[in-house]
Amino acid sequence: MVQNILVSVAWPYANGPRHIGHVAGFGVPSDIFARYHRLAGNRVLMVSGTDEHGTPITVQADKEGVTPKTLVDRYNGIITEDLMKLGLSYDLFTRTTTLNHSVITQDLFKTLFEKGYIIKKYMMGAFSARTGHTLPDRFLEGTCPHCAFEEARGDQCDNCGKQLDPEELINPRSKVDGEPPVFRESEHFFLDLSAFVDPLRRWINDQEHWRSNVRRFSLNLLEDLQPRAITRDLEWGITIPLPEYEDRSDKKIYVWFDAVTGYLSASVEWADYVGQPDAWREWWQNPEARHYYFMGKDNIVFHSVIWPSMLIGYGNGLPGSLGTGEGEPLGIPFDVVSSEFLTMEGRKFSSSRGVVIYVKDFLDRYDPDALRFYLTIAGPESQDTDFTWAEFVRRNNDELVATWGNLVNRVMSMTNKAFGKVPPNDKLQPADRETIEKVELAFGSIGDLIEKCSFKAALAECLLTADLVNRYLNDTEPWQLVKTDMERAGAVLYTALQCIDNLKVLLAPFLPFSCQRLHQMLGYQGSLSGELRFDEHQEKNGDSHRVLTGDYHKRVGTWRPTALPPGQALQDPQPLFKKLDDSVVTEELARMETRVAE
Ligand code: MF3
Ligand code: ZN
Repeated sequence: MVQNILVSVAWPYANGPRHIGHVAGFGVPSDIFARYHRLAGNRVLMVSGTDEHGTPITVQADKEGVTPKTLVDRYNGIITEDLMKLGLSYDLFTRTTTLNHSVITQDLFKTLFEKGYIIKKYMMGAFSARTGHTLPDRFLEGTCPHCAFEEARGDQCDNCGKQLDPEELINPRSKVDGEPPVFRESEHFFLDLSAFVDPLRRWINDQEHWRSNVRRFSLNLLEDLQPRAITRDLEWGITIPLPEYEDRSDKKIYVWFDAVTGYLSASVEWADYVGQPDAWREWWQNPEARHYYFMGKDNIVFHSVIWPSMLIGYGNGLPGSLGTGEGEPLGIPFDVVSSEFLTMEGRKFSSSRGVVIYVKDFLDRYDPDALRFYLTIAGPESQDTDFTWAEFVRRNNDELVATWGNLVNRVMSMTNKAFGKVPPNDKLQPADRETIEKVELAFGSIGDLIEKCSFKAALAECLLTADLVNRYLNDTEPWQLVKTDMERAGAVLYTALQCIDNLKVLLAPFLPFSCQRLHQMLGYQGSLSGELRFDEHQEKNGDSHRVLTGDYHKRVGTWRPTALPPGQALQDPQPLFKKLDDSVVTEELARMETRVAE
C-alpha cells in the first residue's frame, strides 16, 4: 500500500554557515529516510527551511553590523548551497520570512488564543544594558545559586543540571558583551501546556517505536509542564495577530512558535508551488499519513511536546485521531527521530572558538558521499560521538573504498576488458544464483532497518552485503578464469555485476552521487533518484524567494531487485571514491589549530 510520508526536518538558523555537526543531526538521516521511501514507492513530502527570526538572528546581525534581513538573506543563500551540494532532497526548502509562513503562524496563534490555550501573563525579562534588546536565556551567564558553578546559563546549569530562571543567576552577565543585564517586567502570551498534559502522556506512552531516550525524556518533561511564553520583547519576528499588538514593533511571536509552524506552512507553500493548493491535506489531514521529525537532541521538547500541543489545540484533536470540531484537524508526529551530539576532535563544536568544520569547507575538499558515509556509519545516531579526521580517513579508506569502491572497480574493469559489455547470464551455476539471491534478500532487511530509522545498522548491512560479493569473487577468481574459461568467467562476472547493480539501489539513499555514477557506468539511462534544483517561488504579494526542490518523480530507481540486461553496453569505469592520504589528518588538524589560535 502506498503511504504518505511527511519528512519534517528541523529548520537551521540562518545566523551562520552550518557545520557538519548540524547536518549529522537533522540533515543526512532525514535524507536517507526520504530517498528510501521514494524508491519504495511511497509519497514523500520533505519540507524545511531556514529559521530566520528571533534573537539568534538579531544577536548575530548586531555582531556583523548588518540588519537582520541582510543577515538572513546572506545565510539562507549559503545554507541552501550547502544542503544542495550534500544532496539533501527536500521537496521544499523555504524560509520563515515568507508571507505564507507569517499568515499561517498568525492563524495558529489566533486560533489557539480564541480557544483559550494562549493566556496573558507577566514575566521578568533580561535586556542588554547596551542595546536595550532582549537577552535570551542562553546568552546569559552567571553563578549557579545551587552549586556555585560560575558558568551557568540563564536557563540551566550544566554542572548540576538544575533548571534556572535568569533572575536566579548570581552575578549575571551577557555572553555577548560581558555586561550585567537589566531586568524588566513585561506582559507576554503563554501557551498553556498544562491543558495538554493528559492527552500528551497517553499519546507518548503509546509511542513504543520512538527511540527510548526520546520517549523517556519527553515523558519526563510532562512531570512539570508550565505555561510557556510564546512572545518576546523583540522587533524582529512575526507580528502578534491581536488588535492591541498589531502595531507594536517591540513585541513579536517567539521564534520557536513560528519555527515549528514551518512544517505546516512549508507543506502549504509546496502545494501552492506545485499548483495543487490542497495537496498538503493529503499529508496533514489524512489519518493514514505518517509524520517523521528529524533533529538534534536539543530540539526534542519542541517536537514531542510543544508542537503536538499546538496541533492538538488548533484542531481540537486528541492524540491518535485527527481531531474534530473547530479549526482544521491536523496530524501529529508519528516519530520524533532525534540524534545525539557530535563533537569535534574531543571538543564541543564552537564557531567562535574555531573548533568547527563547515559543510562548505568540507565539501570543497572531500566528496559529499564520503561525508554522508562517515556521518551515517560513525555519527551520533544513538549516542554522542566524536568526529576525528583520523577516523574519517580510516573509515573512508578501509570501508567505503576498500569494501565497496574496490569491488565496483575490480568487477567493472575486468568485465570491460574481457567483454566490453554485460556478459551473458544463461550459464549461471547454483553458487552464482545463491549469491544473487542473498543480495536480493537485503532489500527486505535493509528496508526494514531504514524504516525503523536505524540508519547505521542499515548501512553496516549494505557493507556486509558488499563483502559477501567480495568473498564470492575470492572464491571464484574471475581474474584467472578470463585466461582459461571465458564462458565461466562471463557467468561469474555477470553474477558480480548483477550484485553490484542491486547494491547500487540499496546504497542509493546513503550515497546518492556515486550510485548515480555507477548507474551510468552500468549502461543505464536516467536518474536513479531524481535531481535537486533551485527555483524561485512567487507569493501572492508579488515577493519571491529562492526554494530548494527537486524532480524526484522523474527517478527510474525502485526499491526492488534489478534485472541487469545481458549485452548492455558498459561505460569506461571510473573510481567511485578517492582514497585519502594520511597527510589529510595532519593538514586538517593544523587548519583547525590555526583557526583556534585566531
Ligand atoms: N533553528 C533551530 C535550531 O537550529 C531548529 C528549529 S526546528 C523547528 O536549533 F522545529 F523549529 F523548526
Ligand atoms: Zn549548578
